[in-house]
Formats: sequence, C-alpha cells, structure tokens
Amino acid sequence: MGAGPDSCYGLSMLILGIETTCDETAAAVVHRREDGEGEIRSNVIHSQLLEHRDYGGVVPEIAARAHVELLDTVIRRAMDRAGARFSQLDAIAAAAGPGLIGGVIVGLTTAKAIALVARKPLIAVNHLEAHALTIRLTHRIGFPYLLLLVSGGHTQLISVEDVGRYRYIGGTVDDAIGEAYDKTAKMLSLPYPGGPEVERRAAFGDPRRFSLPRPMIGRPEPNFSLSGLKTAIRIEAEKLGALTDDNIADLCASFQAAVVDIVVDRVRVALGLLRNSAWKPRALVVAGGVGANRTIRSALQTVTSDAGTPLMLPPPELCTDNGAMIAWAGAERLVRGMVDSLDTSPRSRWPLGQDAAA
Ligand code: KG4
Ligand code: ZN
Repeated sequence: MGAGPDSCYGLSMLILGIETTCDETAAAVVHRREDGEGEIRSNVIHSQLLEHRDYGGVVPEIAARAHVELLDTVIRRAMDRAGARFSQLDAIAAAAGPGLIGGVIVGLTTAKAIALVARKPLIAVNHLEAHALTIRLTHRIGFPYLLLLVSGGHTQLISVEDVGRYRYIGGTVDDAIGEAYDKTAKMLSLPYPGGPEVERRAAFGDPRRFSLPRPMIGRPEPNFSLSGLKTAIRIEAEKLGALTDDNIADLCASFQAAVVDIVVDRVRVALGLLRNSAWKPRALVVAGGVGANRTIRSALQTVTSDAGTPLMLPPPELCTDNGAMIAWAGAERLVRGMVDSLDTSPRSRWPLGQDAAA
C-alpha cells in the first residue's frame, strides 16, 4: 500500500473520514505512515440499498434521514474497530460535496462538531477528488495519471496532476454510465442498483442480438453520450413485449457490449491526446462504482496495454463510495497543509478540474 515517489514524507497521521454524499453512510480511520504509505485501520459502510430499493433509485429525503439516524453509530464503529480515540486523530475529513445536499450537510456538520469538540483540524474533501486519489492509498503511483471516473452520478476523464490540481479532459454530455445501467435495469424490471444485476444477466446473454447505437464513437474530443443507448434499449424492450429471462439477458449483454465499445474508444482518444503532452499519464486509473464491472475492467486492460500505459484499479470495494477514500484524501491534503475553516459550506455541485484546487 502506498503513495508515489512525489508524495510528501515525514509526517505520520491518523485521519477519520466521513462519507454521506449519496446512499452510503460511511466512516473510516486511515493511518498515513511517515514513509507516505497508507493503511486502512477501519472502513465501515452502511449501504442504504434496502431503504431505496422499492423506489428504483435513491430518494434524497430518505437518504438524508437515514444518514442522520446511522452516522453516529457508523463513526463509533469505525473508531472502535481502529482502536482509536478522537484525541488521537490528527484531523477529521468529511465529503463536503458534490452530492445530495441533505446528506452532505449531515456528514459535514457531524465532522465540524467532532473537530470543534476534539480541537482537531477539519478537512472538507471533494468527493470526486477522493475517488481520484484512492489509488495512491493502495498502489505506489506518482502524478500525473489519467482518471476514468465512472459512477452513478459521474462519467469523466480527468488528468490528475497533483493534489488539488485536476484538468477536465472529457465527460458525458447527458447520462452517467452508472445511471444508464440503473435506468436499463429499471426498464427491464431488474432490482436497484442496476449495474451489478445487468452485469450478472449479461453473462448469460448474446451481445450481438440487438444492434444498439454507440454515440460519440470516433469523435476527436473524448466525450460520452449514453441517452441514445438508453432510448434504444427501451424501444427494443417494447418491441419484444414479453421480457423472458433470455430476452433480458440478450438486452443486458447487447447494452453492455455497446457501453464497453464506447468506453474503450473514448479512453483510447484521451490517451492519444495526452501521449505527447507534458502531462503524459503514468497510468490509467479507474474509480467509481462502474469500475467494479469485470467486463469493463478487462476491456480497459486491452486498450491500455495497446497504448503502452499501465492500468491501475483500486480493489472493487474501494471503487464504490466509502469513508477510507475521504480519510486518505484528507491525509493527502493535511500533509500539504491544506485545512478548512469551520464555516466551510456544503456544496451540491463541485466540479473537479474547475475550482477543486481552491
Ligand atoms: O461510485 P458509486 O458507488 O456511487 C456514486 O454514484 O457516487 O457508483 C454507483 C453506480 C451505480 O450506478 C451502480 O449501478 C454502478 O455504480 N455499478 C455498476 C456495477 N457496480 C456498481 N455498474 C456496472 N457494473 C457493475 N458491476
Ligand atoms: Zn462516488
């Protein structure tokens, strides 16, 4: 486990990280050793799947209430499992956005209260920055690298050039890839969240049965578009009428094949754009829940080896939302002296690459 050659050395720190931006109530304690290596002491996640399942998606009001009810216990458990007391922490880090504002308020306000009472610095972490830096918790990698962030809310390619220095390379002009998986699942009456279920069904299906569009493929700028694909699935499903298991499997496989083609093409274009720049990436790093998809992971393996760029993937449990990534981003910031005041505001929108360096 550890950070890269360009990280700051010499400071050992213990950080509590709090994540409440969507439907996971999560807290973790991460130790950053003097040599820059990271070590997860505890990582507690309460996923609100059951609370939202009947609605086929995350309901912001239900999520915010659940965070209020669960967060104290989740933090207590994370501290107990780490064998740590608040007085031993070096800072409290919380995701201050972007995300569902009710949840962000719960997490950030709780972090402020702990920071105030325990007299510790507060670090207001950008949730996307935390995804971007997670790889440095588990692998030795220095800057710059190209991040493919693929989650339920985001589909972006970002050049990660330093802590606090991110450059937007491309992204979706409509739906996020995870959102397209979730909407496809909903149209096929599959349970929420759709990604893992669509992937499971796709394994039994014929990816060539339906010819679906692959928007944006071949375009010179590495953007994504998923809404046409989603509409095409709806039309095919309506034409079929009866959604037998075989039909569902073939639709899922055809959908996933289109997604894979889009992702591979867009990543190839982005790597090509950066290859001869001063920011030639040392690796392609994947983050976000969709990064857990095995078919996408193996397609990315092929495109990166063709391009001669290593592929680095955090373990699947650190691809989805968690507190350890917030704590680690907190450590990366604290070691560089970046702390925040107690009047920091929660933010529902907070794009990376535009003002995250502020
Ligand atoms: O990063 P994440 O846990 O939460 C945020 O959206 O921030 O990502 C969740 C998204 C959901 O849309 C889910 O359907 C998708 O990631 N996902 C997957 C897989 N596992 C989770 N999509 C495709 N294949 C998977 N195996
Ligand atoms: Zn996320």
